Amino acid sequence: MRNNPYLVALASLFALLQAPLSSRAADENKLEVFSWWTSGGEAAALDALFNVYKTQDPGVEIVNATVAGGGGFAARPVLQTRLAGGNPPDTWQTHPGWELLGQYVEPGYCEPITDLYKSNGWDKAFPKELVVNLMTKDRQIYAVLAGIHRGNVLWYNTKLLEKNGIKVGDTITYDQFFAACDKLKAAGIPALGVGDSQIWASAQLFENTLLGVVGSKGWTDLFSGAMQWDDPKVKEAIKLFGKMQDYVNPDHSSLSWDQAIKALMEGKVAFSSMGDWAYGEFLKANLKEKEDFGWVSHPGTAGSFIIVADGFTLAKGAPHKEAALNWLKSIGSKEAQETFNRLKGSIPARTDIDRSKFDAYHQWSMDSFAKDKPVASCVHGEAAPAAFLQALNDAVNTFLVDKNIDNFANALVQAARESPSAK
Ligand code: GAL
Repeated sequence: MRNNPYLVALASLFALLQAPLSSRAADENKLEVFSWWTSGGEAAALDALFNVYKTQDPGVEIVNATVAGGGGFAARPVLQTRLAGGNPPDTWQTHPGWELLGQYVEPGYCEPITDLYKSNGWDKAFPKELVVNLMTKDRQIYAVLAGIHRGNVLWYNTKLLEKNGIKVGDTITYDQFFAACDKLKAAGIPALGVGDSQIWASAQLFENTLLGVVGSKGWTDLFSGAMQWDDPKVKEAIKLFGKMQDYVNPDHSSLSWDQAIKALMEGKVAFSSMGDWAYGEFLKANLKEKEDFGWVSHPGTAGSFIIVADGFTLAKGAPHKEAALNWLKSIGSKEAQETFNRLKGSIPARTDIDRSKFDAYHQWSMDSFAKDKPVASCVHGEAAPAAFLQALNDAVNTFLVDKNIDNFANALVQAARESPSAK
């Protein structure tokens, strides 16, 4: 029987028929997730998110498509190429606001997920203003938030400050900050750690400083066109940003944001103005809150919360739509929000989670989110279109070389003029 040619032929025919079927079946059990979460803290948090998903939707193989580089500045061009080429991942990381709506929804790369909000009771669980203002187009919702970062945080090395006789209170003014910088400089320590091998990290320092001068009302006015980008207050912020450069670590342009945080941990620099994804790095390195590192709102920004939220989308034509829907459902679950954000440094976007599961930093950030004025980040794609963000990054880059305040302000005036929504 083994040699029966008919049976052999039949068997191979059967195998041929089976092959595409079984490989398709295997393929269906995949999920491709695209993000830029590759630093130590980010990768650990992403992994936790995967683990929650795996328990909720077992048997699906996750393809972890990451492109390294903070803020997604290296990832987004890769994603754009894939989307334009009709080769989308099933789901990808995005900031809400302009980035989501302008770059992905408008060109038709996303499928609405409004039904998930209805079927999972998310209408009540997520902050309505965020969902409506930053993630909705034509009454359809296009993303679910994994967490909300606070952008305007000034981190410090507690022991290094103590050693140099510097005390930081609940808030810090620019005068107090520069006094601390001078003390550190006299002791031969670069006060401010920056890792701007990718320029966004310096743009973020500028964004935080700008908010510290113009306040939340000024912020709204700038992005609505009621205040001009060459307003004396903007120029004052540019001046302060320029002054900060005197205290920055000399190797800043060769470091990434997380390497700058590492330098802070090692006591090579004292402060770093960075969103609270930095918290994930401290946690990953087993550092203790307050004992090893501390935080305060970036000078002048207490009372405001720069939102840097992370959402995930559903691709139009997602190769594995069912798994992608389950992934999004999982992200929106309490379990995922509590597990992921503890590691990531962000706070859960859901407002009905168990606060007691979170540590002191998160309690502080959750309190701030509840009572402070929220503003959308420009550097992280929410407040203005991509072209304006690009112009801001370019202007920051140029300013670090020419230190020309008027040039900086004028470049932003020009960019706002060309970008109607970011007047
Ligand atoms: C932000 C993102 C955060 C964090 C950070 C640094 O854009 O929202 O989750 O990853 O970049 O990479």
